[in-house]
Amino acid sequence: MIGIFDSGIGGLTTCRALKQALPGHDMIYFGDTARTPYGSKSRETVVRYSLENARFLLEMGAEMIVVGCNTASSVAPQAIRDAFDVPVFEVVNPAVEQALAASKKGQIGVIGTRGTIASGVYETRIKEKLPSATVHSNPCPLLVPLVEEGWFNRPETRRIVKSYIHPLRVRQIDTLILGCTHYPMLEPIIKEKAGKRVTIINSGAAVASQVKEYVESHPEWRDKGGNTGCDRFFVSDYTPQFRSIAEAILKQKVDLKLVQQ
Ligand code: DGL
Repeated sequence: MIGIFDSGIGGLTTCRALKQALPGHDMIYFGDTARTPYGSKSRETVVRYSLENARFLLEMGAEMIVVGCNTASSVAPQAIRDAFDVPVFEVVNPAVEQALAASKKGQIGVIGTRGTIASGVYETRIKEKLPSATVHSNPCPLLVPLVEEGWFNRPETRRIVKSYIHPLRVRQIDTLILGCTHYPMLEPIIKEKAGKRVTIINSGAAVASQVKEYVESHPEWRDKGGNTGCDRFFVSDYTPQFRSIAEAILKQKVDLKLVQQ
């Protein structure tokens, strides 16, 4: 069973990508809705929350952890690997690899939460692999609450997205990493505002391809794929709003269970 966590709703876009890539695999999701957002919290706090989330998923039967949150992926994967003996995937490296494969001019834009952008993780990893690349980053703190509200295509959302994307557009980026798993819900607007020459990289979809490769090359994991693909969803704070947005993201009924962290 594949365990995925995020601070809230955003990791469901990663869960959706994983379900498409690995339809016969069981998934268990934890959204830490009581403690969201992670993007404005300190590194130490995000690491501590991430360890607690991973422990919960493993206790519930997960055998692999996918960190479906860029903020947690920028600071916590090593701590999770050190603490637990299971495969751990995160969303940053796969997004960097896809961006480098897609970019022709090495002009790469990154948008994310304040935490992710302040960590410099994307810039560091891109430069490690392609020192000549130029990375243009912009934190977009208003986008997570807009997605959590389900404001996917409101005029206000379009204006805010435009003002975040404009500074990157004028720098003529050719590739744009959605460095937050909430942002795929705004992808059509982001794409429109970035311009049609810009390739959009979705970090959740990128990790799903990496997990698929891992599963296909490990027989013990491949054999787990013959299930019905049953999903379980847990949150640390229940709101009907979360459920209806989760259903809009996954396009299926979502039976949410509340768990105290
Ligand atoms: N979905 C999380 C991410 O990918 C961000 C949400 C938050 O700030 O908690 O970074």
